Amino acid sequence: MPVHPAAALPEPSPHLQQRYRLLGELGRGAMGIVYRALDLASGEEVALKFPTIDRPEVAARCLEAARGLADLSHPNVVGVLDSGIDAGRPYVVMELVQGTSLLSVLEKSGRLEVGHAVALTCQVLEGLAAAHVCGVTHRDVKPENVLVVDGTQARLVDFGLAFMVRGNRISGSGRLVGTPAYMAPEYVQGSAPDARADVYSVGVMLFELLTGRVPFLSENPMEVLTLHVVQPAPRVSAVRPDVPRLVDDVVARTLSKNPAERPGSATQLAELLRHAIASPRAISARTLLELEDDAPAPVAQGPGWVMGALLVGAFSAAFSVALVMTLVWVTGAAR
Ligand SMILES: Nc1ncnc2c1ncn2[C@@H]1O[C@H](COP(=O)(O)OP(=O)(O)O)[C@@H](O)[C@H]1O
Ligand SMILES: [Mg+2]
Repeated sequence: MPVHPAAALPEPSPHLQQRYRLLGELGRGAMGIVYRALDLASGEEVALKFPTIDRPEVAARCLEAARGLADLSHPNVVGVLDSGIDAGRPYVVMELVQGTSLLSVLEKSGRLEVGHAVALTCQVLEGLAAAHVCGVTHRDVKPENVLVVDGTQARLVDFGLAFMVRGNRISGSGRLVGTPAYMAPEYVQGSAPDARADVYSVGVMLFELLTGRVPFLSENPMEVLTLHVVQPAPRVSAVRPDVPRLVDDVVARTLSKNPAERPGSATQLAELLRHAIASPRAISARTLLELEDDAPAPVAQGPGWVMGALLVGAFSAAFSVALVMTLVWVTGAAR
C-alpha cells in the first residue's frame, strides 16, 4: 500500500489531533484525500478521509450518510468508525484496509482470469446489495474504489458521491457527479441514479476486468457519456473470445440501456454470474462460435455500427453543447 511522506499533510485542528495522529497519505481521488492515522484512543491505525468538497450543506449530508453507513457492517464494504467536522471541514474515519486498489491489480495484469474477475465482482455486488438495503447508492463504482486484500477479498470504498449527493445533482450547483466511463445512461440523461445504475457500473467494471478496457472509449468525456446513451455496448467476446458464453450474455444484459432489462438488483446479478461460471453450459464464446461454424460478429461492427457511428457523431455534437453548460467535471477526465 503506497504511503507518501507526511510533509504535505494539512494540519488537523488541535481538537482532532487529540484523537488522531496523521501518519501519511494513503491515496487521493477527485473527491478527497485519505490519510493513514493513529487512533490515539484505541491505539489502532485507521484511514481518515477529508472530502475536498466542503460547502456547509455538503458537509452536513456527508456526515448524515457516513452515520448511515456506520450502521452497516459487511465484509465487502469498508467500515465507517467515526465522522465529524474539524475546523469547518468534514472528516470520515474508516477501517484501514491493508490492500491495493483493483485498478492497480488490473494495471499490473492487463486483464483478470475470468473466475478471478467474477469472484471479485460478486463480492463487490454483495457489498453493494447491503448498502442498497440501507438506502445508500454508491454512484461511483469503478476499480479505483475497490480495495483488494490478499488478492482475493474485495472491499468497496469511497461512498463519497453517495455521501455528498441527494438526487442526481449536488444541491444548488447543477453538477453531474461520477466518472463518465462507468455512468449509467439514465443517470447521464438526468434520472436520479438508483441500485440499477450501480448495477450498470458494475457491468462496466466487469467488462474492464475481463478485457482490460472499458466498453466506451474516447478522449472526450462528453462523447463517452453520449456513447453510454446511444451506442450498444460491445460484447466482451468481441474483445476476448474465450470468455464463457453465459458470462458474455450476463455482462451484455447488465449493460442494457434500459434499466428494466438489467438484472434487477446487485444480488440478482451476483447470482447470475455465479451460475454463469458454475453452469456446465459455461462454454466459451469462441468454442460456441466454432461449433456453430459461425464467424465472430461483435455488436460494434458491421453496417449497424456505421449507422451507429453517424448517429453518435450527430448526437454527440448536440448533446455536448447542451451538457457542457451544466456539467463541471468533479472527477476529472474519463479513463
Ligand atoms: N479505508 C481505506 N483504507 C486504505 N486505503 C484507503 C481507504 N479508503 C481510501 N483509501 C485509498 O485512498 C484512495 C482515495 O480514496 P477515495 O475514498 O476513493 O477518495 P476519492 O473520493 O477522492 O476518490 C483510494 O483509492 C485508496 O487507495
Ligand atoms: Mg475514489
